[in-house]
Amino acid sequence: LDFRSDNTVGVLPEIMAALAAANVGTDASYGEDAVSAGLEARASELFERKVRVFPVATGSAANALALSALTPPWGMVYCHRLAHADVDEANGPEFFSGGAKLRPLDGADGRIAAADLDAALAHAPFGVVHHPQPSAVTITQITELGTAYRPAEIAGIAEVARRHGLRLHMDGARFANAVAFLGCRPAEMTWRAGVDVLSLGATKGGAMAAEAIVLFDDRLATELAFRRKRAGQLFSKMRFVAAQIDAFLTDDLWLRAARHANARAAELGRGLAQVPGLEPFAPVEGNMVFARLSEAVLKGLEADGFRFFAGEAGRPDVVRFVCSFATKPQDVARLIQAARRHAPGQ
Ligand SMILES: Cc1ncc(COP(=O)(O)O)c(C=O)c1O
Repeated sequence: LDFRSDNTVGVLPEIMAALAAANVGTDASYGEDAVSAGLEARASELFERKVRVFPVATGSAANALALSALTPPWGMVYCHRLAHADVDEANGPEFFSGGAKLRPLDGADGRIAAADLDAALAHAPFGVVHHPQPSAVTITQITELGTAYRPAEIAGIAEVARRHGLRLHMDGARFANAVAFLGCRPAEMTWRAGVDVLSLGATKGGAMAAEAIVLFDDRLATELAFRRKRAGQLFSKMRFVAAQIDAFLTDDLWLRAARHANARAAELGRGLAQVPGLEPFAPVEGNMVFARLSEAVLKGLEADGFRFFAGEAGRPDVVRFVCSFATKPQDVARLIQAARRHAPGQ
């Protein structure tokens, strides 16, 4: 059984059907098509205001392009120490921005605290020509440790950022899981809290290869259009990328899929917490469970054929189990039973 990632699973049938539906007849290319227009209208409805939507194929492209629109080449982008944009994108944001730096901050459970950001900015060398200039903040929702920022925490970070003249980006690779967990409106967690640009994930939630850069400030749209083209992310048959995201956002599919994945992760988190010698590493607030496993349990699960990543958060004993729209309750039950069996004294 595979708990490595929500990337290892396939595609939601509704999204495959939307691709087949888009595969009929002809339509304009490069995002001038009806599906892309429909997606922008649907997203505007969802976010309760007019938004601009720029579909791309990967989350790394969404993050790098979004950040490049928020920072000059000499800028500094603040992020959490575990941020995907800093650790897992091979300097994509630095490359796309033409040289801006990412500046990692510590923070409990994968989250940046507004007070720590404020403290870092209080000593930043604003206006000194020798130093990188603070320009933006990026936060991940849900975080790289599977926790969710509350809207008030996001508003707190945005307030600090704004006060120091920085813009705010949200890496929402698992935005759906956060909305499902918090039960809040997408607007509350984004522009109403002060987010300028969102990387809205669909792939991990059940699309094939589709993420959207959502702009809450449409003054960035012209620049971003050129940046996306220059980055090779303006697909000629854009309707197939837009169709995936549009189907994902239709009839609450994104939330239904995320609720399912979150429910499995919650069961897994509760079950594993009862296993002797196994310690939760972060609260389970989305579709990922992080735990510290004894060597015996870790090796035992691997020998049983369970697949998951170990060595998370820079620690060899921290493992990550990820649930998806396709994870079954019995898959979770089998993992919990196996962990119990391998636990010391069992
Ligand atoms: C937090 C986060 N952001 C962004 C991404 C997007 O990555 P990719 O470029 O692989 O689609 C991922 C994927 O692992 C992620 O976990």
